[in-house]
This record gives sequence, structure tokens and C-alpha cells, in this order.
Amino acid sequence: MRTMALQPNHLVPYGILLFICFISSVISTNHGCNKMDHDSLRSSFDMLSRLNWSSSDCCHWEGITCDEDGRVTSLLLPSKGIQGGISPSLGNLTHLSHLNLSQNQLSGPLGTGLFSSLSHLEVLDLSYNQLSGELASIPSIYIRVVDLSSNLFNGTTPSSFLKHASNLSSLNVSNNLISGQIPSTICLSSSLVKILDFSKNEFNGMIPLGLGNCSKLEVFRAGFNSLSGTLPSDLYNALTIQEISLPSNKLFGSISDNIVNLTNLTILEIYFNQLSGTLPSHIGKLSKLKLMLLHFNNLQGFLPPSLMSCTNLVELNLGFNRLEGNLSALDFSKLGQLAKLDFASNHFTGVLPISLYSCKSLGALRLSSNDLEGQIQPEILSLESLSFLSLSWNRLTNVTGAMKILMGFKSLGVIIISRNFLGEELPDGDANTGSVFKNLRVFGIADCQLTGQIPRWLSNLKKLEALDLSSNRLTGSIPGWLGNLPSLFFISLNNNSFSGELPKELSRLQALQSQKAAPHGHGYFELPIYTQRTNASITVLQYNYLSNLPRAIYLRNNSLSGRIPIEIGHLQLLHEFDLSVNNLVGDIPNQMSNLINLERLDLSRNHLSGGIPASLSNLHFLASFSVAYNNLQGQIPSGTQIQGFNATAFEGNPGLCGSPLPNHCQQANGSSITKNTEDGHDNGHEIQWLHFSVAFGFIIGFWGVCGPLVLSRSLRFAYFQFLSSVKSRFFG
Ligand SMILES: *[C@@H]1O[C@H](CO)[C@@H](O)[C@H](O)[C@H]1NC(C)=O
Ligand SMILES: *[C@@H]1O[C@H](CO)[C@@H](O)[C@H](O)[C@H]1NC(C)=O
Ligand SMILES: *[C@@H]1O[C@H](CO)[C@@H](O)[C@H](O)[C@H]1NC(C)=O
Ligand SMILES: *[C@@H]1O[C@H](CO)[C@@H](O)[C@H](O)[C@H]1NC(C)=O
Ligand SMILES: *[C@@H]1O[C@H](CO)[C@@H](O)[C@H](O)[C@H]1NC(C)=O
Ligand SMILES: *[C@@H]1O[C@H](CO)[C@@H](O)[C@H](O)[C@H]1NC(C)=O
Ligand SMILES: *[C@@H]1O[C@H](CO)[C@@H](O)[C@H](O)[C@H]1NC(C)=O
Ligand SMILES: *[C@@H]1O[C@H](CO)[C@@H](O)[C@H](O)[C@H]1NC(C)=O
Ligand SMILES: *[C@@H]1O[C@H](CO)[C@@H](O)[C@H](O)[C@H]1NC(C)=O
Ligand SMILES: *[C@@H]1O[C@H](CO)[C@@H](O)[C@H](O)[C@H]1NC(C)=O
Ligand SMILES: *[C@@H]1O[C@H](CO)[C@@H](O)[C@H](O)[C@H]1NC(C)=O
Ligand SMILES: *[C@@H]1O[C@H](CO)[C@@H](O)[C@H](O)[C@H]1NC(C)=O
Repeated sequence: MRTMALQPNHLVPYGILLFICFISSVISTNHGCNKMDHDSLRSSFDMLSRLNWSSSDCCHWEGITCDEDGRVTSLLLPSKGIQGGISPSLGNLTHLSHLNLSQNQLSGPLGTGLFSSLSHLEVLDLSYNQLSGELASIPSIYIRVVDLSSNLFNGTTPSSFLKHASNLSSLNVSNNLISGQIPSTICLSSSLVKILDFSKNEFNGMIPLGLGNCSKLEVFRAGFNSLSGTLPSDLYNALTIQEISLPSNKLFGSISDNIVNLTNLTILEIYFNQLSGTLPSHIGKLSKLKLMLLHFNNLQGFLPPSLMSCTNLVELNLGFNRLEGNLSALDFSKLGQLAKLDFASNHFTGVLPISLYSCKSLGALRLSSNDLEGQIQPEILSLESLSFLSLSWNRLTNVTGAMKILMGFKSLGVIIISRNFLGEELPDGDANTGSVFKNLRVFGIADCQLTGQIPRWLSNLKKLEALDLSSNRLTGSIPGWLGNLPSLFFISLNNNSFSGELPKELSRLQALQSQKAAPHGHGYFELPIYTQRTNASITVLQYNYLSNLPRAIYLRNNSLSGRIPIEIGHLQLLHEFDLSVNNLVGDIPNQMSNLINLERLDLSRNHLSGGIPASLSNLHFLASFSVAYNNLQGQIPSGTQIQGFNATAFEGNPGLCGSPLPNHCQQANGSSITKNTEDGHDNGHEIQWLHFSVAFGFIIGFWGVCGPLVLSRSLRFAYFQFLSSVKSRFFG
């Protein structure tokens, strides 16, 4: 009771305080906001947004802060859905120090004089808009932070840009269309610069000298431009630097030994360039280095042993260079943090280094396309976190031992060991190995000339999504149980000696039947499952998503016989289907026309007979098609897009006639027309024409709305054409 009575008394001093606060706030806002600022704000934003700016005192508006004189000092309206151009009257807010209009839909150019009167500006953030035109000069001497990234700015940086910015600490203009030289003399104005991000623009020319004057520089990014020349010599004077990120340019020359002076460096990424020379021999002095990404260059020579002293390395990627040397002679055992190692496509020799197996954090390992020999050692099982393993294109032996050992892994999601074990026999394995490889999603052992059959243990891999056994000498039939693997959507068995019928059980493949049944290629792999380098290093495509693979069944060049099962029509999600160069007989089943997502269908070089079903014209996405060299007969369905394919798609069928083949059909000789009539395509010609024009209209209309989707389909298609021809060389 007593304590309760006391409380009001205790509150009295607070009450007075609150009252004083209230009075003083009333007094200070009595000034109201400056009229010019008020009017400028109204005219700048009123029409552009649905801001709640109803009261008369603009200092109380959302996003606005004033000083005691009622002048607007900060305008913070990120992510407010503001549209339209930046009004010149913003320049009337002459006391503005913080301007943040990030993540709106602002467009149009910055007026050249816009910032000239904003002489108190300290922080400017216009990132994530659609602003265009040239960058405007920012003459404020107080400016500290400038973020103009993720817009559409173009042209070159004006020479006066940030010339007087003696306190500048961070500049981000990444992700625009800016060209010309990088303004690296910025540090002559300000010695306080910590962050410079010029990446993802069209900057060209050399990286000029000037960075050496950035005595506080921590982050320098200029990747994904067209920069050429060597790394600037004074970069090595920026002793405080922590991140050098220059990927995807045209930089050449070597990495100077002086880089070891940059002892705080944690990120060094200069991949996709033309760097040459050897790695600095004392690179181990960079003990803080976490990321070293130098793949796709022309680095050569031996790896310096001191590299293994970079004990904080998390990711080391030296793939696609010309490095050499005996890997077994290197001691990886100190790289306890290493999670990802990629040495693909170099000239490394020796056996798999045992010391590598002490890198307990290793999750992804790619040593493909080197000259490694010997066997996979049982010690590899100590890599408990390993989920990605690619060793293809080496000279490993003992596939029986390899499979036995690898089956000891619980975690593996990807195994690609193609082009090793030449001519050995693929072990059938133990039927009881059911519980192994629980997480295996990609298995590739192609191009090995392996004998034997499809191993039975595969039937337990409920998560298997992609299987590549192509270009071996496997025999026996294609097991029906493949159809029970619920996630499988990519099967390549090309170039083997499989015989027997095409099992109708394949039509059960859930991942090829309905989107819901199984997620298709979800997730991201730590390393690419597929790499493609075209035109001698001009373009490089790497695919880390399994969804980059098509939903496909490739059975080309085997000895399959019998008819194509009509059940195949259930695989509605199939995008590519290749049955060419086999001994298949019978009709092309009408049900094939249910495969409405097909982009590529190759039935050439079999013994198929009968007519070409007119219903195949339902396959609107079909971009590649061949039935060449069979015994097909009758008229090529007229008035359908099937006729749009090159005559080579139909050649080698003496009984086929009509466009695009040069031979005309005899009126009386119409077995295929009759057949079509039987199948319910009476009055075929008119209906087909109608169908065709409807389809055509649909495609035109569709293009307008969903152009990018269609485009990406056709791009994907082009790439998979390529994939099918060279896949085995690059897979993994
Ligand atoms: C607009 O702001 C005023 C005062 O700032 C407030 O009282 C009012 O509820 C706000 N209206 C809306 C719709 O948010
Ligand atoms: C604000 O700026 C615009 C354009 O710079 C100018 O025309 C206008 O007179 C200014 N408004 C006020 C209230 O000063
Ligand atoms: C601008 O606002 C966004 C969203 O609140 C914020 O993430 C960003 O850091 C701000 N920019 C600056 C330079 O402070
Ligand atoms: C630069 O920053 C320092 C420290 O914050 C400050 O004292 C100085 O006045 C600033 N100079 C300019 C020109 O803004
Ligand atoms: C620069 O801005 C982009 C977004 O536009 C962001 O992704 C990037 O991390 C920023 N750079 C730095 C160094 O913060
Ligand atoms: C910059 O973009 C504008 C359109 O936004 C265009 O008119 C102008 O020609 C471009 N300038 C350069 C140098 O590309
Ligand atoms: C910039 O660096 C160069 C060489 O490191 C030096 O000679 C020059 O005095 C520096 N300039 C400024 C303004 O610090
Ligand atoms: C390196 O980083 C440490 C800790 O962040 C710092 O104390 C030191 O001054 C830095 N060294 C240089 C040369 O910047
Ligand atoms: C940088 O490294 C070179 C070569 O190792 C050395 O000669 C030079 O003195 C170093 N500079 C600094 C500032 O430590
Ligand atoms: C590679 O190095 C290991 C260990 O130093 C050695 O045993 C082996 O003979 C070397 N192999 C080659 C091909 O030089
Ligand atoms: C193949 O590897 C297994 C398991 O490591 C081993 O037991 C076997 O001796 C090896 N075979 C040959 C021929 O080296
Ligand atoms: C058909 O394909 C062949 C071989 O690809 C080619 O030489 C020919 O020019 C093509 N004909 C037409 C009409 O496109």
C-alpha cells in the first residue's frame, strides 16, 4: 500500500521533464519547416508517390529530418515505390546532408547542376533505381558515401566527379553502363577512401595509377568490365587492402611478388582474365587469405609450396590454367578451413594427394582434366563433409575399388568420374548396397569404355536426378527399374551396346511426368557440374544448377529393338528424346504427340515404318527433329510445322513424299493419309491449317508477353545441342 502511494510522487520529476520536452519541441517546431524546402519537397515528390505528407509542417513528414532552423537536412525515402524523374527543385534543399532514395523506380537523368547547390551533402544513396544518362558532379566537400549502383548510368565519369570530396570514404557505381577509364585518382582528393566498387560496367582501358594513394583502401572491385593491361604497380602499395576483385576483364601480365606485402588481403579474385606467369613464390605470407579465385587465366608453372601456408583459405580455385607439377608432393594438411578446391583443367600429375584428405572442411573437390594417375585411396573417406567430387578426365584405375570406397560416403551428392578406368569392367556391386549413396543426385561415369551392365545398386538412389553412362561398352537391357527412380530427369546412355526393348517402365519416371512429383534440379552445387569453354576462351559457361540440364533421355547408338512403347507419351515434361541409331521397328506412336514440351526429337536411323503421325504438329516447341533413314511411308503431314524442318530430317525413307522432300506424292498412294484418317484426323488438311495458324498466332502473342521465357528456352536448346556433342569432354 505504502509503495503504491509513493509512486505518483516519484513520477513528478519525470512529468516535469516530459512537459519541458513537450514545450521545447513545440517551440522548435513553431518555426515550421522552411517555406522553400516545403515547396521544393512538394514539387519534387508530391506527384511521384503516395507518401503521407498531409500536415503543413514538412519537418514532420515521413522520411524528413530538419535542423532547428526548419531546414531539411535529411531525406530518407528508400523503398517507397517513388516513380518518375528526380526534380531539379531538389537542389533547393541546400542544407541537405543525407539523401537516400534507394530502391525506388526513379528514372531519367540527373540534371547536371542538381548537386551543385547541395553543398552540405554527406551521404548520397540513389542505388537500385533506373536512373540514366551521365553521372553528375558532386561538388560537396563533405561527401562521405556515394552509392549510385544498380542504375542505368552511362557515358564516362566527368573529370570533376568527386574532385573536391576530401572526406570520401565509399564510392559504389557498380552495375551500370559506365564506360571510359576508371577514375582511380579519387584518392588524390581523399585519402580516406575505404571502398571503391566499379564492377559490372563497361569501363575500359588500363587501371590507371592512383590506387597507391589510397592509404586506407580496403575494398577495390572492378570486375565484369573490359579493363585491359596489367595490374597497376601501385596496387601493391595499398597496404590496407582486404579485397581485390577484378574478375572477368582482359587483364594480362603476372601477379607481382609484391602482392605479399598486402598482408591484410582476404579476398583475391581475378578469374576470367588473361593473367600469365607463375604464382608469387611467397604467397604464403598472405596468411589471412580466404578466397583465392584465379581460374580461367593462363597461369603456368608449379604451385609454390608456400601456398599451403595460406591456412585460412576457404576457397581455392586455380582451374583452367596451365599449372603443372606433382600434386602428391604438396602438403595440403594445414588447410583446415578449405571448403572448396578446384584445380580442373591444368596439367597436374601424380596421384591424389593423401594430405588433401586431412582438409576436414572440404565439401567440394574438382580435379578433373589433369593427368592424375593411380587409384582412389580408402583414406578419402576421412573427408566427411565431401558432397561434390569430380575427378573426370584423368588416368585413374581400378573402378571396382573406386566404387567400393566411394560407397562409404554418406554425404556425396555429385560423383563425376568420367574418362578414367579405360576398358575396365563396371562392378555390378552388391545388391545389398541399398543404403549407400542416399544423397547422390548426379552420377557420371561416361567415356570409360567400361564393360558390364547397368549396376543394380542404382535402383536404390531415390535422389538421383542425372545419370550419365554414355560412351562405354555396357551391354544387357535397359532395366525397367530405372523408371522407379522418382527424381531422375536426365538419362544419358548414348553410345553403348544396350539391347532388348525400350522398357515401357521408363514412362513411370515421375520427374518427367509432373512438375509436382519431384523438384527438378533444385539447389545449387558448390562447383559447376558442367563447364563449356568456347572459341578459345572467349566465352565460358559454367553451370552450377542442375536445372541447367534439360529433362532428357538419350539412347542414341545402341542396339535397342522392338517397338517404341506407347506409354512413352506419359513423359509430358521431356524436353529432349534421342532414340537414333538403334534397331527400333513399328510405327511412331501417336502418343508421342503428348510430349508437348519436346524441343528435340531424334528417331533417325532405325527401322520405323508407317506414316508420320500428323499429331506430331502438337509439339510446338520442337526445334530439332529427325526421322531420317527409317522405312517411313506416305505423305509428310502437310500444313504442319513438321514440314518446316530441313529435308535432311526426312531423307533416307524411300516411301516418304511431299514437302520438304523433292518427290511429290502420288494421289492414289496414300497409306499414311488413310492412317491419319483412321486416327480421327478426318478432313486433315483444313483442320491442320487452322490448327497451325492458331498455333502461329499463339506464338506471336506469346512472344510479346513472355518473350524472354521463349528466348531462354531456345538459348537453352542451342546450348544443349552443343552439350550433346561435347558433353562428355566437359561434364564436370
Ligand atoms: C499520416 O500522418 C499523420 C501524422 O503524421 C497521421 O496522424 C495519420 O494517421 C497518417 N495517415 C496514414 C494513412 O498513415
Ligand atoms: C527551386 O528550384 C527550381 C529549379 O532549380 C527553381 O525554379 C525554383 O524557383 C526553386 N523554388 C524555390 C521555392 O526557391
Ligand atoms: C539507404 O537506405 C537503405 C534501406 O534502408 C539502407 O539499406 C542503406 O544502407 C541506406 N544507404 C545508406 C548509404 O545509408
Ligand atoms: C572531414 O571529416 C572530419 C572528421 O569527421 C571533419 O573533422 C572534417 O571537418 C571533415 N572535412 C570536411 C571538409 O568535411
Ligand atoms: C555496391 O552495390 C551493389 C548493389 O548495387 C552491391 O551488391 C555491392 O555489394 C556494393 N559494393 C560494396 C563494396 O559494398
Ligand atoms: C546514354 O543513354 C542515353 C539514353 O538513356 C542515350 O541517349 C545516350 O546516347 C547514352 N550515351 C552513351 C554515351 O551511351
Ligand atoms: C600519390 O602517390 C605517389 C607515389 O606513391 C606520391 O608520389 C604522391 O605524392 C602521392 N600523392 C598524394 C597527393 O598523396
Ligand atoms: C591489418 O588489419 C589489422 C586488424 O584489422 C589492423 O590492425 C592493421 O592495421 C591492418 N594492417 C594494415 C597494413 O592495414
Ligand atoms: C614490398 O615487397 C617488396 C618485395 O618483397 C619489398 O622490396 C618491399 O620493400 C616491400 N614494400 C613494403 C612497403 O614492405
Ligand atoms: C610425385 O610425388 C610423390 C611423392 O613425393 C612421389 O612418390 C611420386 O613418385 C611422384 N610422382 C611423379 C610422377 O613424379
Ligand atoms: C582395387 O581397389 C580395391 C579397394 O581399394 C583393392 O582391394 C584392390 O586390390 C584393387 N585392385 C587392384 C588391381 O589394384
Ligand atoms: C539442310 O541441312 C543441310 C545439312 O545440315 C544443309 O547443308 C542445308 O543447307 C540445309 N538446307 C536447308 C534448306 O536449310
